[in-house]
Amino acid sequence: MDSEEDTHVVVGSLNSSNDIILLNLLFDALKGDVIAVIPYMGYARQDREFLKGEAVSIRAIAKIIEERAGRVLTVNIHSIKAKENFKKLIDVDAMPLIGKHFKDKNIVMISPDKGSAERVKVAARVANCEWDWLEKKRIDAQTVEITPKNLDIDGKKVVIVDDIISTGGTVVEATKRLYELGAKKVESACVHAVLAEFAAVKLFSAGIAEITATDTIEKVFSKISVAEILSQKIREVS
Ligand code: R5P
Repeated sequence: MDSEEDTHVVVGSLNSSNDIILLNLLFDALKGDVIAVIPYMGYARQDREFLKGEAVSIRAIAKIIEERAGRVLTVNIHSIKAKENFKKLIDVDAMPLIGKHFKDKNIVMISPDKGSAERVKVAARVANCEWDWLEKKRIDAQTVEITPKNLDIDGKKVVIVDDIISTGGTVVEATKRLYELGAKKVESACVHAVLAEFAAVKLFSAGIAEITATDTIEKVFSKISVAEILSQKIREVS
């Protein structure tokens, strides 16, 4: 029987508003202490008021979760700013798992922007491969050129690594450019495969050979499991 002395681990990604309702119902049904494990922390990309008067979604979600859960675990939350909305959030990094998946596969890892470069560096170190990030250079008022910062990727097998693929726009743009620059093959890897609005179709149409993701959101592309790193962390905080 559930008692006030028990600690409960509630696991569920927040990929839709239904998931928030479900999480709340679980919170309500349990009596004891709660550790909330949210592998994909949706709503984290709205981590600031981009337009005046907008809600900061992650602030609202953090309030709901922390009202009931003493500890919160997630995987690669979108930004430091998003993380700052929680009092006690442990953010587990799945990039080493992506690195392990591609270990010694003779590839180059590319971050689609500077913002994800540090994450990709972690994955590339484990994969034992070269890495770089795409830099946007303004040539003139009308032209922006996107090129890898340091590497020549002509004839290389490239994996674009990002924390999240949502509409797929970022990866599609990067893929087109990498093929223009002579990449032999371009794949895509991410932690959170939101893949909204037929994003997978868009990626394959742009020439992505394969999509690899973790299982923070269960998809046919979930080839990497975060279960072990999360259970290890749960044991540490329990
Ligand atoms: C950006 O900061 C993120 O790292 C992703 O690159 C971005 O959220 C992907 O979104 P989309 O797939 O809609 O381009």
